[in-house]
Amino acid sequence: MITGIGYGCMGLSGIYGDSHDDQGIATLQGAADLGVILFDTADVYGSGHNETLLGRALGKRRGKLLIASKFGLTSQVGESRGVNGRPEYVHQAVRASLSRLGTDYLDLYYLHRVDPDVPIEDTVGAMAELVQQGLVRQLGLSEASAATIRRAASVHPIYALQSEWSLWMRDLEAEVVPTCRELGIRIVPWSPLGRGFLTHQLTSLAPQDYRLTAPRFQGENFQKNLEKAALLAGFAAEWGCTAAQVALAWLLHQGSDVVPIPGTRNLSRVAENLDALKLSLSSDQMQQLEQLFPPGSTAGERYPEHLMRTVNL
Ligand SMILES: NC(=O)c1ccc[n+]([C@@H]2O[C@H](COP(=O)([O-])OP(=O)(O)OC[C@H]3O[C@@H](n4cnc5c(N)ncnc54)[C@H](OP(=O)(O)O)[C@@H]3O)[C@@H](O)[C@H]2O)c1
Repeated sequence: MITGIGYGCMGLSGIYGDSHDDQGIATLQGAADLGVILFDTADVYGSGHNETLLGRALGKRRGKLLIASKFGLTSQVGESRGVNGRPEYVHQAVRASLSRLGTDYLDLYYLHRVDPDVPIEDTVGAMAELVQQGLVRQLGLSEASAATIRRAASVHPIYALQSEWSLWMRDLEAEVVPTCRELGIRIVPWSPLGRGFLTHQLTSLAPQDYRLTAPRFQGENFQKNLEKAALLAGFAAEWGCTAAQVALAWLLHQGSDVVPIPGTRNLSRVAENLDALKLSLSSDQMQQLEQLFPPGSTAGERYPEHLMRTVNL
């Protein structure tokens, strides 16, 4: 059963600036020592590097921890929009992930993006075979629409939906969250800190930073959004905590079925983020946050146009 706060490993493969494997391993092992149970990776992060690193770091502790990985996002030439949900690929991908992770099962296996060219029933049908074979314990989807979640759940129980959800990205609250709740599906918000933005520690970006591809991190949008991040940091200071903790606590207050997976290369920040579990926000404080970040109020989309076409499918 997933609960609390997990750890997102993506940033340990150089996605948001340099990462060093020794530091990554120390952070992963330290996170487990601090009580993190759920570790989230994907085959596409660093083209396999992230899964290999996680496997090296967790080693003998693996049995006490939950490992979630994902497949289906691929940059191989010839794949439709870089997405592959074909049944034969499902079987191929899981074996490669297990080998890199050095384990013989995954606790949770997500389809990273819905393949528009393959009926979801076919993809999930193949994923269900992995459960029957003992390679995977539970199934998940990422960035799927409410209609797709329903179709998928009619083939095999879906344990979790992993989609972007945070104070500055609230699109899924209207339809997807109620659908998950109706079907008993847990929600794993990715980038719960808005890729670092909501911490208000990220006030400028290096020209090569990956985040600059997203309109909300660009030019005027970024400046407008920063004004709100500054106000969030002001609330946090007043409330005796950090902006990161407020952003995480806001998600945790949505329900015990919500399990955010913040990522960081720094162990001290893992500890800081876990302390959000101790933060109790009053209804007045929740209301102040709702007023500062109403749905749809962030300037700019979260992805460039071609990638916006791959979400909520
Ligand atoms: N399913 C999907 O499509 C999808 C997409 C993206 C991500 N994910 C998953 O979600 C996980 C988390 O998302 P994310 O890494 O994109 O974004 P995030 O957790 O919202 O933010 C990560 C960024 O915040 C910084 N940070 C973390 N804690 C901080 C703190 N307490 N104070 C200041 N800065 C802090 C990190 O910098 P430092 O490293 O410098 O601390 C990093 O740059 C990923 O690791 C991945 O597992 C899934």
